[in-house]
Amino acid sequence: MTTPEVAVAYGARSAEYIDLFGRVDAAPAADRRLILEWARGLNGPVLDVGCGPGHWTDYLVRHGVPAEGIEMVPEFLEHARTSFPDASFRAGRLPDLDLPDASAAGILSWYSLIHLAPDELPAALAELARVIRPGGGLLVGFFTGERVEAFPHAVVTAYYWPVDELSRLLAAAGFRVRATASRADPGVRLQATIVAERV
Ligand SMILES: C[S@@+](CC[C@H](N)C(=O)[O-])C[C@H]1O[C@@H](n2cnc3c(N)ncnc32)[C@H](O)[C@@H]1O
Repeated sequence: MTTPEVAVAYGARSAEYIDLFGRVDAAPAADRRLILEWARGLNGPVLDVGCGPGHWTDYLVRHGVPAEGIEMVPEFLEHARTSFPDASFRAGRLPDLDLPDASAAGILSWYSLIHLAPDELPAALAELARVIRPGGGLLVGFFTGERVEAFPHAVVTAYYWPVDELSRLLAAAGFRVRATASRADPGVRLQATIVAERV
């Protein structure tokens, strides 16, 4: 699937996605804590790349973190702008965010790298590294597994990433991995997070 095809697939199911996932209280409390604590530890603007409905961007702004959401699906952008007027949102996609070098203190990529094919990921991570300033942070949420493998995500094909393999790609892109975690919740795919610092 190309990135424009992924955008079209999300556009077609945006209402359903918003309904199911477009509120922070639909997410586990552990995720809310992790995202807020991580963002509060940064000193400056945070980008929520692939923000979808915009609920995490809004959550950060409501908690005093300067954050902006970036999204490529027009239906999500419209929802985000209407529903969360205190936060700001802009159109954009990886691997070209069209933002200045070193302009963000941190980037939240919450399940937004999952649809990139393995050969597309290095360029996307290099773009994140370009936009985050040295010493800044990256928090990635993703589905994990024993090998890099495509799976039929409800919207469009996505990929499992072993934590070690994604960590290796992050290191190659200019990040130092600070913390990793994975979680097996009943009835859902294995989930993982990586907190990394831009070297
Ligand atoms: C599973 S949703 C996650 C949305 C939101 N972060 C959340 O936690 O609900 C995946 C998101 O990644 C975005 N996305 C997929 N490919 C992308 C790309 N190449 N660049 C930027 N965003 C992308 C999609 O548009 C969608 O909003």
